[in-house]
Amino acid sequence: MVITMYLDAEDERILNGEFGETRQKMMEILVALGRVYDAERLIPITSAQVSGASYKTIGAWGLSWLQSLDARVAVPTVLNPIGMPREQWQEFGVGEKFARRQQEVLEAYRRLGITVECTCTPYYLRITEFGEHMAWSESSAVAYANSVVGARTNREGGPGALAAAIIGKTPYYGLHIVANRRPGVVVDVEGSERGALPADHYGAIGYLAGREVGNRIPIFTNIRPTRDQLKALGAAMAATGAVALFHVDKITPETRIFSFETGGLERITIEQKDIEGLFEEIEVDAVAVGCPHCSADELAELAGLLKGRQTTKPFYIFAARGVIRDNRAIVAAIERSGARVIADTCMVVSPAMDRFRAIMVDSGKALAYVPNMCGALARLGTRAECVEVATS
Ligand code: F3S
Repeated sequence: MVITMYLDAEDERILNGEFGETRQKMMEILVALGRVYDAERLIPITSAQVSGASYKTIGAWGLSWLQSLDARVAVPTVLNPIGMPREQWQEFGVGEKFARRQQEVLEAYRRLGITVECTCTPYYLRITEFGEHMAWSESSAVAYANSVVGARTNREGGPGALAAAIIGKTPYYGLHIVANRRPGVVVDVEGSERGALPADHYGAIGYLAGREVGNRIPIFTNIRPTRDQLKALGAAMAATGAVALFHVDKITPETRIFSFETGGLERITIEQKDIEGLFEEIEVDAVAVGCPHCSADELAELAGLLKGRQTTKPFYIFAARGVIRDNRAIVAAIERSGARVIADTCMVVSPAMDRFRAIMVDSGKALAYVPNMCGALARLGTRAECVEVATS
């Protein structure tokens, strides 16, 4: 293999196979990535997050590749959501054959030393801080980590993140380099100057903005979202575009440290009529929220909205296992309504959701993914509308 990237003596020995075949293969993946992206060297990372954890997305080939690996990760590493909750998978509607295969996938990752915390919101586990280099692969988590936390990660593929986890390093290119984190396009949201935007419109704004900006780095200049709204905005832009970093003037950390020059940049306006046009009313047979997985505040809001109500159709709320564990009383209050709070999985990566004809969601990312990944129609609503439909 032609190597254009600087490797230190230990990296060279790994590449030569002195530390086993798996490490050698993982180093080959990093060297290949480094060559494609013109990286000059590898840099150490502090954590990794690996996608390709649901058997629905990786299938038999992915499972047997994972089972062939023989090494341990070198940094704290977590997984993206899998295809089912680890415990109540039968109740959730997952078949036995799928469950068996999914358990084998989890076991393969566990053998590699990966913590089987399966979530697209690993930042709630407090494994990353401002300025740290990481190798994360879930697109919404990458957008949040880069933009809201101010950490540094490229949008890794599953194998690239796993290779980085096992070697403990990643090629130094793209968003690891400060000079590449400057905005490339300005986005304005019509109507925001008249006051706060409706809290639940950020997923829709991200859905529309992602289609316009593609893989450029947008800077929003006239909005003031909360952390949960930033999460919804970034997840949707990563789904309809390929946004791995965005800035919101005076809100996200790098806009308070660097002074970005935006004078010569293209300006895009997201119009209110287009936002409202996404909230189309169609009949649904299930409701699912928590894409990305719910925060503690979002669970509390849902508990408040559901108080005194009973569900009339399946209502699933997805959150990280750790967030559920830390908010047991709120989860119990939600479940008194008949809604189910589910860990480890989500409405997109679980085959259990494929049985529905139309699913109501509160997320721009789910609006983009549910039709293709679940073969169901998707309806976008605010969280209050989701509760209304699930309990009417
Ligand atoms: Fe997370 Fe699944 Fe949405 S992985 S971001 S809840 S599609």
